[in-house]
Parts: sequence; C-alpha cells; structure tokens
Amino acid sequence: MREKIFVADLADLIVNIGREIHVEKEEIALFRLPDDSVRAVGNRCPHENGPLAEGIVAGEFVFCPLHDYKVSLNSGEVQAPDEGCVNKYKTSVEDGKVYVWA
Ligand code: FES
Repeated sequence: MREKIFVADLADLIVNIGREIHVEKEEIALFRLPDDSVRAVGNRCPHENGPLAEGIVAGEFVFCPLHDYKVSLNSGEVQAPDEGCVNKYKTSVEDGKVYVWA
C-alpha cells in the first residue's frame, strides 16, 4: 500500500528545476511547476537511465538530459516517436509542505 510521505518544503524547490529524491527504495524526480503544483515521476529514463531530474522542463513535460526523450509529468508516458514510460507518483502540497505517495 502506498503511503503519504513528506519530501520537501515547497519554498525549497525551484520552479522548473528538478530534484532527485529517494523514498524507500524508489528514486524519484520531483518538479515544481509555475503554478506551484508538484509532479513526481521515476527518475530514470526508460531509454538508457538518464536522470530525468536533470532534464529541461517545458510545460508539463521533461526532456531527458541524455538523448532528449520527452516524458509527460502527468502520466509518465514517453511521447512519440519514442516509447516507454516511468512511474508516476501522486503528490500534494499542504501548508507549503510537499508530499509524495510512494
Ligand atoms: S537516456 Fe533518456 S533519452 Fe536516452
């Protein structure tokens, strides 16, 4: 069963700059978007394990820093013409605290 886990203060996250976090045994890429919502997806790109937390964010997508796979921060799906997916984690922001269900 997934648990709600505190992972960061919202104020410590820079908009559109990812952060790698570790929750239990899961490596997660955390992103604060311009509307102060937060997304969390598996940090390792399905292509060759590129660190998505270091990718470039555009809208609700992150581009892998290694070979530019485009990954949806809403679904975890790699966008065509490439394929694959990463885990997507539920998040919430409550009183300036960021939580992930992992
Ligand atoms: S490792 Fe991410 S696109 Fe190649």
